[in-house]
Amino acid sequence: MKHLDKIENLTKEEIQNIIEAAKSFKTGKYANYPTRHAALMFFENSTRTRFSFECALKRLGANVYVFDTAKSSITKGEELFDTINNMSAIGINTFIIRTREENLIEKLKEKNFYKPVHFINAGEGKSSHPTQALLDYFTIIEHLGSVKNKKVVIVGDIKHSRVARSNVALLKKEGADVVCSAPEYFQDNIEGVYYEKNLNNALLGADVVMCLRIQTERLEKEISKDDYIKNYRISKENLPENALLMHPGPVNRDVEITSDVIDSSQGKTILNQAENGVYIRMAILDKIFKEGRI
Ligand code: CP
Repeated sequence: MKHLDKIENLTKEEIQNIIEAAKSFKTGKYANYPTRHAALMFFENSTRTRFSFECALKRLGANVYVFDTAKSSITKGEELFDTINNMSAIGINTFIIRTREENLIEKLKEKNFYKPVHFINAGEGKSSHPTQALLDYFTIIEHLGSVKNKKVVIVGDIKHSRVARSNVALLKKEGADVVCSAPEYFQDNIEGVYYEKNLNNALLGADVVMCLRIQTERLEKEISKDDYIKNYRISKENLPENALLMHPGPVNRDVEITSDVIDSSQGKTILNQAENGVYIRMAILDKIFKEGRI
């Protein structure tokens, strides 16, 4: 693959190769790409993904260009294709893109650019966030060894979540037993997803509990936060003692998870996820820079 667009397009072998490379970077592998040039094009807000990619690029000795949408010529009516084409002519060849638009990278990769380019999906609409799913998978196997036959419970706003969709695709591919728990207004038809509306029933025997943020910015109509908190918030009372607690971030304290749990030892995995994101992104960039493919 010249581009990273969706988890669904990665083979199991490609996923394992990325994980092995991430492990190597985490244990001190060194690479240096001073002649590589990559742009961060974030059309939606981000903290973890954006800084994690920037940090990964800097650790790889590559050159990073942060695209400032508000100051770019897109505000003068230039189409994204033309913007990228001109940037490729200038010498940038890797584009890390976060966008609201579904399937943007699938569309871009079909076009002919002035010079060869690589695209990496840094979160697309509500459909895909492949590097998040890879870093979540890396974090789970670091803690549990494997996801095969492990019960992974995804809690919250599944409907608007690209993280949920990419995680379901990856976890099912690797043999996990995935259960989603959400009120009806946060449920959506996702292939292979089984819903258990009652949170306590869903959490029985959970190996991993993955919470999601309520995506207020994508809601079609207002929901009752109090009702959500009453029925779906993870707390000391309902979180299984040995379960791995995860959240892709940003966390809304006391909405998805109580503050005391976030600050407890079980809450530390959330920071492991952020830490591992750098190594996953180094692994992906290293493959693109070295081999021209993932
Ligand atoms: N998990 C995640 O994508 O976080 P950001 O929106 O801060 O990048």
